[in-house]
Amino acid sequence: MVRAQQGSPALAPDGSRAWLRYAPPLREGIPAAYEAMPAAVVNLDGSPEAASAQNELVRGARAMLDRTLRTAEGNGFLLSRNTRPLKPCRLKPCELPDEDAWVLGTTAEVRRAFPAWSAPELQPEGFALAAGRAHGHTYWLIAGEDARGILYGTFHLLEGMAQGQSFAALEGSESPAAPIRWVNQWDNLNGTIERGYGGPSMFFEDGHVRSDLTRAGEYARLLASIGINGCTINNVNANPHLLDPEMIREAARIADVFRPWGVRLSLAVDIASPQSIGGMDTYDPGDPRVAAWWRAKADAIYAAIPDFAGFVVKADSEGQPGPSRYGRSPADAANMLAAALKPHGGIVMYRAFVYNHHLDWHDMKADRARAAYDIFHPLDGQFADNVVVQIKNGPIDFQVREPVSPLFAGLRKTNDAVELEITQEYLGQQRQLVYLPTQWSTYLNFDPHAENRSTPLKEIVEGKVFHRPLGGFVAVASAGMDTNWMGSDLALANLYGFGRLAWNPNTAPETIAAEWTRLTFGNDPTVVNTVSRMLLASWHIYENYTGPLGLQTLTNITGPHYGPAPQSQENNGWGQWIRATHEGVGMDRTVATGTGFIGQYPPQVAKMYESPASCPENLLLFMHHVPYTYRLHNGKTVIQTIYDDHYTGAMEAAGLVEEWKTLNGLIDPEPHAATLRMLEYQAGEAVEWRDAVTRWFAKMSGIPDALGRVGHYPNRIPAAAMQLDGYTPVEVTPWETATDGKAYVCGQTMCTAKTSFARAAGWYTVRVRYFDYLHGASTFRLLLNQQPIAVWTADNTLPGEAPNGDTSSRYTLVGVPLRPGDVLTIEGHPNDGEPAPIDFMAIEPEGATHTATTKP
Ligand code: GCU
Repeated sequence: MVRAQQGSPALAPDGSRAWLRYAPPLREGIPAAYEAMPAAVVNLDGSPEAASAQNELVRGARAMLDRTLRTAEGNGFLLSRNTRPLKPCRLKPCELPDEDAWVLGTTAEVRRAFPAWSAPELQPEGFALAAGRAHGHTYWLIAGEDARGILYGTFHLLEGMAQGQSFAALEGSESPAAPIRWVNQWDNLNGTIERGYGGPSMFFEDGHVRSDLTRAGEYARLLASIGINGCTINNVNANPHLLDPEMIREAARIADVFRPWGVRLSLAVDIASPQSIGGMDTYDPGDPRVAAWWRAKADAIYAAIPDFAGFVVKADSEGQPGPSRYGRSPADAANMLAAALKPHGGIVMYRAFVYNHHLDWHDMKADRARAAYDIFHPLDGQFADNVVVQIKNGPIDFQVREPVSPLFAGLRKTNDAVELEITQEYLGQQRQLVYLPTQWSTYLNFDPHAENRSTPLKEIVEGKVFHRPLGGFVAVASAGMDTNWMGSDLALANLYGFGRLAWNPNTAPETIAAEWTRLTFGNDPTVVNTVSRMLLASWHIYENYTGPLGLQTLTNITGPHYGPAPQSQENNGWGQWIRATHEGVGMDRTVATGTGFIGQYPPQVAKMYESPASCPENLLLFMHHVPYTYRLHNGKTVIQTIYDDHYTGAMEAAGLVEEWKTLNGLIDPEPHAATLRMLEYQAGEAVEWRDAVTRWFAKMSGIPDALGRVGHYPNRIPAAAMQLDGYTPVEVTPWETATDGKAYVCGQTMCTAKTSFARAAGWYTVRVRYFDYLHGASTFRLLLNQQPIAVWTADNTLPGEAPNGDTSSRYTLVGVPLRPGDVLTIEGHPNDGEPAPIDFMAIEPEGATHTATTKP
């Protein structure tokens, strides 16, 4: 048998197929379990979703099993014994082909065709896979509770097939945990994506919906394959013009490409729209004219998009207008919108991310973490039944670690959904590996013990705990036009993982990691084990080198949220304070002496957090202000733990590079090389983070690192200690992100920095720490004596135009033979305003010597 060869589209290594790569599950031949599979497909259901399912089944069988399935439309096989054309199967009695067949349909349709089949109990959108015999033939059934269920069952089958699982092993049934499984894209009409790291918007361009929406349709297919049933297409900082009649017509085209995949479109809306685009003098939710405006708007939307899902609302938050302007509450605003959508079956996702970003940092009782609970808890029970309060997982903003928001346990008569963030805004922005299902599972399994009983977060948002009819899972996604959707192949594990957890929050992150790896890179056990291990370790690694002990990601919060900048947390109105002083660090959120935030939790949890002794140490500094000399359970001080964790994290990040290298030859070369580059960059950035944060704490606390590492870098030669020609110093902000707070920039066409080597002869690794701005592509050369030994271009698109932790980069050359007296030169060639900035050169012995004579 001739099989599809390497390089066939099914194996396209460019990432565009994501986890739907449909590579043959086994290297040789069709798995025995599929040898006997039916050749015919009968689709009993007339929905667009079922048509997609049927096409997908044919596509998957072709790609993975080298089998072309026959469909009714294909070549008219559907003839009964009397060679009469079959009646459409939706009519009774349904006629089946006189041969083995795959049968797709809703449970009701399948039951009509096979009255003897005992269909399992399914929730809406659930599915069952079953094989059975009737009329002397074998039928492989894919039954959905509804049209989406057929689609989800088909993808479940295909994903199992890709992992080499037999149909028999996949038989059974599943239903989703909750009805709301949405992604929020933060796309802007001008084609950019807020906090997007995967290229331009696939929906918008130049103020309009793109004419070619192929990519949006492919995205919907990806979403459907993991059970996502809703997508908000625009930024929560909403542009009201999306509600203009012309734009509604344009948005309807996106809904059209979503529909065959069961993805319902929703819009983020600006609550001030009646005024900003409606020409009214108010947007007061209590004003009947305003309510009428929204009703008319909802009617117009449903006329264009009959399956429109609803509105997402960010109001009274970070400068967005809101009901508070008129003395109205979030419930007033939400209910007014809900009333407009109700006749059409739409819902309002009202975000609880409401807080004052002009807090007074002098006020030791002020606390941004309190805001959501303080504002929404008193409104419990006042929201209409088609309103869902959408709550970020933590009380701050998608930090590397936060406690679960106390609001989840505080809303018992209100529908709620958890909002997670797939886009790695505070987590390395998809240039660094952070696998999030581990973090999300930690949150979803957290048990706030509402009403003194076990009430894990996942069960609250499923609606089980407080018996709510609506609820679920939302995640901020930032897939864009980049071929691999998110700018990084590995980041796709997060989109995949979100879908899997939203479908079933009990799925272990380990299971998700292994499945995603198999679907993305193939079933080789070495690949599966290695990639899984890397994914599972990555969150904690990132936490170690950014913000351990509940410090949160100590990033530049007033800038791009990327590089290290601990001081930026403090002394501003944003309220992400860590309250570091010369004596201690951490926010006192206790009831006894602090902001009282801890008192927002049910008693059992509040008691645990209130005392530093019982507070989990990974949240210690989120909950408590302690002296640097405070000792953790292992006897180590807080300050030494901060130092050690940062050093451990950077070392572990370097380990990821080594692990990935072991996969060379086991996965396609292009994705292997792209990810290797990314991990090498990450290892360099982890060192930058480590150095910046530890230097900052060493200065703040005045307590040196007991191991003498912080501030002492024996292998480094700072630019200031090199012989410079043309390079001049500039102050770096924040100071801790470069040696002695200075970078060296080149103000002419070419500059050099030289150092004469004075250590023992041997093989060395030479690293150059430089800065790579968003714009400009400076070129660097490294010379050993007169010989150029490396050249590279600073053409990464890092988020900054100045030398600091956002733009810090590292070039590494291993295997450099050095003898005493050798001269190493960095040659910088500025480009387009980027002055070839440098910080230092590091020369690290490789542990081996080579025969060399001392240079004369
Ligand atoms: C974060 C993010 C913003 C976003 C906001 C939100 O603060 O940085 O870009 O608008 O969250 O969730 O509304």
